Amino acid sequence: MSDVEDMDIDSVDAPAAVTFSSDLKGKKMSKANLPVSAGDTLPWVEKYRPDTLSDVSGHEDILQTINRFVSSNRLPHLLFYGPPGTGKTSTILALARHIYGAKNVRQQVLELNASDDRGIDVVREQIKTFASTRQIFGGVAGKNDGLGNFKLIILDEADAMTSAAQNALRRIMEKYTANTRFCIIANYTHKLSAALLSRCTRFRFSPLPVEALRRRVDVVIEHEGVKITPGAVDALLKLSRGDMRRSLNVLQACFASSTPLDDAGRPDTTKEREEITESAIYDCIAAPHPEDILMIMETLLKSDITTSLRAINEIKTRKGLALADILAALSEELCRIEVPKQTRVLWMEGLAEIEWRVGSGGGEMVQTGGLAGVVRKGVAVMGNTA
Ligand SMILES: Nc1ncnc2c1ncn2[C@@H]1O[C@H](COP(=O)(O)OP(=O)(O)OP(=O)(O)O)[C@@H](O)[C@H]1O
Ligand SMILES: [Mg+2]
Repeated sequence: MSDVEDMDIDSVDAPAAVTFSSDLKGKKMSKANLPVSAGDTLPWVEKYRPDTLSDVSGHEDILQTINRFVSSNRLPHLLFYGPPGTGKTSTILALARHIYGAKNVRQQVLELNASDDRGIDVVREQIKTFASTRQIFGGVAGKNDGLGNFKLIILDEADAMTSAAQNALRRIMEKYTANTRFCIIANYTHKLSAALLSRCTRFRFSPLPVEALRRRVDVVIEHEGVKITPGAVDALLKLSRGDMRRSLNVLQACFASSTPLDDAGRPDTTKEREEITESAIYDCIAAPHPEDILMIMETLLKSDITTSLRAINEIKTRKGLALADILAALSEELCRIEVPKQTRVLWMEGLAEIEWRVGSGGGEMVQTGGLAGVVRKGVAVMGNTA
């Protein structure tokens, strides 16, 4: 239990010297005293990418296990998988920095992601060359423990690798286990070869719970001096659905749009920024406002089909909403109200069908009709059973 606290996971060198290819820009600039204009344009997802393992929000179990591996010098090949924006890349980069120290990361870590060519030739040559060269001086200076002697190969977005390349990797992983560890990162495990999976210890990065999102978002809000209402923060976290990248991107977009402009359309620093409201968050994500959804639900439950359809279409046009978003929010609301079992079954079945059809290219107009039809059908059943 206490491994995480016991470990000195904060004692990594100053991150200003980090030299990962993927986050070079973000890291270096974030630690410098940026001019205001540069700080404004830097994406917050990069500016606030966790430097150390303790900056990673949530995933306590995973971090605890990894810390235990590190402290006992027994790091297996790792597989991180899960939905986007949950901290997979950030965790492995922070772990690499923790093991090697920021200065040594460059020579000890090979990071390849989907933007690099990772066809079979690269796997054969580049990975093989990197994996097969031993440390000349036997480990990283100042880190004479076992892990400092290992090289780390990070294969980010590995589900985009060809199956031939994945197959070539199997043998390489086995052959160079003496001095190399692999960390494979993917969104979907079903796109990885089973043989590869069986060589790794798997960790699922599930969508982050609201509290984990809040911890990091609060840090950013404080650092950047964002003026935002508590209700807006709640809406932001709820709408992010466990994706930290999304939370930070939306927050930054709302912050940017709250900047007052002068007559020439340039940012006016003399004026106070507006406070970010719940409504601004919904508008930024282009998600339907809760009151609009409640209005649509009321109409569907109480009026006839023609009036309902007209109301939905009117609100869709006025607010520029997509049926898919209305469908998701409306299903949540419909689940909350007390209705007879038959009605609930009908709604669930019907809404699932419409969601599938919308996702597979069904027309908005016809499917909106379908939605209204399904809800009204459930209401009719309710009438019969009452
Ligand atoms: N658990 C977390 N704690 C703190 N920040 C996080 C966390 N997860 C994500 N972030 C933030 O979101 C950004 C994106 O995270 P990261 O690149 O690690 O996601 P990922 O899981 O690798 O996503 P993808 O599958 O899309 O590659 C980071 O730069 C960081 O700012
Ligand atoms: Mg990633």
